[in-house]
This record gives sequence, C-alpha cells and structure tokens, in this order.
Amino acid sequence: MITDAAVVILAGGQGTRMKSRMAKVLHRAGGKALVEHAIDTARQVAPPDRVFVVVGHQADAVRAVAEAAGVGAIHQKEQLGTGHAVMCGENQLASLGGILIVLNGDCPMIRPETVQQLVELYRQTGSAATMITTDLADATGYGRIIREPNGDVLAIVEHKAATPEQLAVREINAGFYCFDAAAFWKHVHEIRTDNPAGEYYLTDMVAILLQAGHRVTALKIEDSSELLGINNRLELAAVDRLMRDRKVRQLMLEGVTIERPETVTVDKDVEVGMDTVIGPFAQLTGKTVIGENCRIGASSILHDATLADDVEVFPFSLISASTIDARAHIGPFARMRMGAHLKEGAHVGNFVELKKSTLGEGSKSMHFAYLGDSTIGSKVNIGAGTITCNYDGKHKHQTHIADGVFVGSNSTLVAPLRIGEGAYIAAGSVITDAVPAKALALGRARQVVKEGWSRKPKAD
Ligand code: UD1
Ligand code: CA
Repeated sequence: MITDAAVVILAGGQGTRMKSRMAKVLHRAGGKALVEHAIDTARQVAPPDRVFVVVGHQADAVRAVAEAAGVGAIHQKEQLGTGHAVMCGENQLASLGGILIVLNGDCPMIRPETVQQLVELYRQTGSAATMITTDLADATGYGRIIREPNGDVLAIVEHKAATPEQLAVREINAGFYCFDAAAFWKHVHEIRTDNPAGEYYLTDMVAILLQAGHRVTALKIEDSSELLGINNRLELAAVDRLMRDRKVRQLMLEGVTIERPETVTVDKDVEVGMDTVIGPFAQLTGKTVIGENCRIGASSILHDATLADDVEVFPFSLISASTIDARAHIGPFARMRMGAHLKEGAHVGNFVELKKSTLGEGSKSMHFAYLGDSTIGSKVNIGAGTITCNYDGKHKHQTHIADGVFVGSNSTLVAPLRIGEGAYIAAGSVITDAVPAKALALGRARQVVKEGWSRKPKAD
C-alpha cells in the first residue's frame, strides 16, 4: 500500500469498437466488469479514499460500480481525451499531493505488483513521470515509445500522428503512468489539442514535463499479456480466457484437482479448499466459497454458494445464493436457490428444488420435490414428489416441519402449515391443517375396490 498515492482509472470512453449499447468498461471478463478489475488493482495499491474512476459514457452505471467498490468518481461530461479525463479530477486530486497513478480502465489484467514496480522505478530514477511499456509484434493503434540514447523517454507518439519510422517502433505505451502530482498539476493545462484526433492526449505530458526540465522514464514489461487492452469483443474473449486460465492454474497449485481444466469456469474471487475435486464443465461464479475435500460434479453451476468441507455435489446441479453444510449431498440435477440451507449431512437427490428453505441435519429429500419457504428439522424424510404449496396467488406462506417427521411420497403440503415432531404423513395426502407431534395424517380418498369389475360385459 502506497499511502501518498492517488489513483485515477480512465473509464469515461464509450468504446466504439465494442459495437455495444453498454459502456466498454462495464463488459465482463473473468466474471467481473472490466472497470472492477482496475478498481481491485487500484485498491491494493492506494487507500480507497484516494482511488477515483473517471466516468463519462453511461456515467451513472459506471459510478454505481465505483461506489459499490468503495471508491470515488470523477465526472467527465464530454470525452475530450485521456488528458482531459484526468484534468476533470483536478478539484478532487490536485490537493492530495504525493504521486498520481493513472490506470487504463480497459486493461484488466494488470497486477498490483506491476504497479508497485512502476512506482519503485519512478522513485529510484527521480522521474516526474514513469510509464509501463512492452514490445508488441503488432503495435497497431498503440502510442509508440520514443527513447533517448540514455534510455529515458523522449516522447509518446500516438499511432495516428506517427511517422513511418515511428510506426516501425515495437515498444508501446500500455496506458499506465506514475506522475509526480505537483509537477503534473502545475503543467497539465499545457496539453493542446493540435493532433489528428483533436483530443487532449495524456501522453503529451511526456514532452511537456521534459520541456519543464524533468526526467521521464519507462518500465518495460516482458510478459505483455498483462497489458492487453480490450477494444473489441474478440479481445474481450481472449482476456476472459486468460483470466480463467490464470484462476484455474492458481487453484490447482493451491491443491484443488480440476478435471479437464480448460472446460471449467471460475470467477476471480471464488475460493476453493484443498483436495476438492472439480469435474469437467463446472462453473463456480460470484462469491462462491468451497471448503476442503468437496466434489463438484461435472456441469454443475455454483453462484454465490457457500459449501463447508466434504460436500458432494453430483453432476448437473445448480446452487445459487445458498449455504451447504459439511457432508451434505446434492444432486444430480438438483437446484438450491435464494438462501437455501442444507445442514450437516442432509441429502438432496435428483430433481429436488429448495427455495428459501432449510433442510435440517441428516434429513433427506431424494427424488422430485419442491420445498419453498420451509423450515425442515433434522432426520426428516421427504418422500418422492412432495410439494410445498407456498403461494396462494398473492402471498407466500411458510411450512414448518419438525424433527423426525416422515412425509410419504407425493404429498401436497398446503402452506401455511405446521407438522409436529415425529408425525407421519401418508403417501398421496393433501395436507391443509396442522398435524400434531407423533400423529398420522391422511389426506386422501379411501381406496375403493370393485371385485370383478373389469369382466362386466360392456354395452355397445
Ligand atoms: C491510449 C494511449 C496510447 C496507449 C493506449 C494503451 C492516449 C492519448 N493514448 O490510447 O498511447 O498505447 O491507450 O491502451 O492516452 N477515456 C476517458 N475519457 C476520454 C477518452 C478516453 O476516460 O475522453 C478512457 C477510456 O474509457 C479508456 C482509456 O481512457 O478506458 C483509454 O482510452 P482509449 O480511447 O481507449 O485510448 P487509446 O486510443 O487506446
Ligand atoms: Ca484503448
């Protein structure tokens, strides 16, 4: 953490080449909006009250992301260029002093360690500006780095303004800078719009600071994948793939077995414990946290799910915003949603759905059931085909099933309903009234048998 750093994330542009109604920085890679990745990096570099996102195109939506992440926003009404974007923050930033770090909002792969390295080089060299660069085989569209014989930076020339010799330069500006804040704010108004795009280029600060007698240097990074910028949806997909790859590799190195890792999708913030095995085509997204020694079956999807240790999820199950305690079993083909909670050792089998419901310790619902707005105690058996009728067309109602209850197959439990401890519900019942503890409730027509009926002569 660099306490005297302020960070500005450039995120005001539209991103025309995305061909989208949505601002480019709101598109997602690795399970997060591009701007969120930049904010994550910024927050690991500087205190959150010194991090600001420049918002312009779809300002309200981008600002909402910044606010949710606990950082500030700078409003850029018109997108007049990257230099103008930073200038718009003068009121909020100029008084902060120290160093000013600028991050490109459309380059989500940058690691905080690399930004730290940038700041170190800036300090070692006594520069007024230091930027991150890399060599690219195809530098099309990027600003080119023009170096002095001693290696210092002489200028950044934008692609559109470059001469043929300058276009031949492979070293590009990645869009990450560290400035001496005092020098920056003293000279920033010297940026002109005399370039082919008619924009205020932040990159012009190089020449301006040199002119004022300062030193400008560059940190060249070998692994250019970290600096990949996103301008279209092909690049978005490429970065998404790299991020997914980075995440599954990290998990495997931390002791998670991932079968066919190239098919598995894991979001950046997901945590998985040691010796857990993840099957092919599984997707672990959002804020999912998985304990140790679990098994996540093939093609299962877990979003914002919390799993304790030794949980078994059989293939093709969906778990969202739900909590699963140790040794529980789920699936195959089960669905847990909206705050479902399986307590220790509970088992849920195929085609069982739990919504806003708790299934107690050791309880089982193994086949075809809908359990909604229900609290179910421990050691309960829910027979195949049981349905809680929680909705009367206007309101949702609760079902309470106490410990040790046995619900026979194909029961219809009409909520609001209470079933007392140890009660039995006969198979095929429609239960509309409370059932006391230890009682047997039957809610079905008695069977009628008509002997010899099928042999009656038929009238024609
Ligand atoms: C910029 C750099 C270029 C560098 C490249 C690296 C300039 C002039 N050029 O070019 O040297 O090689 O990044 O990716 O800076 N933005 C605003 N407000 C604006 C304009 C842009 O907030 O008025 C934001 C965009 O949302 C984007 C970032 O700044 O996140 C970069 O803008 P973009 O237009 O993509 O710059 P490049 O042409 O890629
Ligand atoms: Ca760009």
